[in-house]
Amino acid sequence: MSKRIIITGASSGIGAALAHELAKQGHHLALCARRSEDLQSLCSALSEKHPNGVFIWESLDVVQLDQVSNTVHALTKRLGGLDIIVANAGVIGVRRTGSGELDKDKAIFDVNLMGAIATVDAAVAIFKDQGYGQVVGISSFSAFIGIPGSAAYSASKAAFSNYLQAVRTELCTRNIQVTCIHPGFIQTDLSPNMEKYPFVIKADLAAKKMVNAIHKKKKDVSVPAWPWAILKHVLPLLPDSTLKKVF
Ligand SMILES: NC(=O)c1ccc[n+]([C@@H]2O[C@H](COP(=O)([O-])OP(=O)(O)OC[C@H]3O[C@@H](n4cnc5c(N)ncnc54)[C@H](OP(=O)(O)O)[C@@H]3O)[C@@H](O)[C@H]2O)c1
Repeated sequence: MSKRIIITGASSGIGAALAHELAKQGHHLALCARRSEDLQSLCSALSEKHPNGVFIWESLDVVQLDQVSNTVHALTKRLGGLDIIVANAGVIGVRRTGSGELDKDKAIFDVNLMGAIATVDAAVAIFKDQGYGQVVGISSFSAFIGIPGSAAYSASKAAFSNYLQAVRTELCTRNIQVTCIHPGFIQTDLSPNMEKYPFVIKADLAAKKMVNAIHKKKKDVSVPAWPWAILKHVLPLLPDSTLKKVF
């Protein structure tokens, strides 16, 4: 059965790959991000490939918290309802602690944490009213082990994973599922030279695995499972000096 799905951060990378994979399966999609031209061309490409599908888009900067709820509600109306929300929009930033560039850290938290929380919050209000729905959050393996040089990014993802776990518990007596996805390295434009990272996989393969986990309503999943489902337990046991060399 086709589902109505909103994806944030759908203009590139994992979000766009999820859109392709979900469209292939016949789901109806509403795509958001800041780059409207990219969303527009993605929707055109999807409509051409899947003429029976519904693909709509809306420009959204998730940092504008007051706009998130309005956009989610407007897109839900245009889709004719909402079954799944994917809070995927995210940014990374590299800076060494002590450089005083707190504005960079705040910008990361604004998107990865507050923007994601606003997205989930808006959808949960709809899901509570209708009595069903599924929240999907794209976190990161760095929620389990902070990456040196990307401390704020890692902390924002740890906070988002923790937030989703609390929301899942809060909603466990309702028919609302919460899926937290922890990607390893996926080849996208998130960081330069991603193709050189260890165990990196392509975004389309990652999207297939993520969609599979979403349909199975998994609570918590590492993508790809190998090696990240094991590394998430092993990496925190390593001495700091070894960890520094790993990253
Ligand atoms: N690639 C990896 O290895 C990896 C690993 C772990 C977790 N992740 C997570 O996966 C998610 C997707 O990242 P990606 O790898 O696909 O990178 P990406 O290609 O850079 O995609 C990031 C997406 O987020 C959107 N975005 C950024 N800031 C936004 C804002 N203020 N408001 C709305 N949308 C915004 C971007 O669209 P606009 O610029 O058009 O707004 C873009 O569509 C992120 O949450 C990231 O942290 C990625």
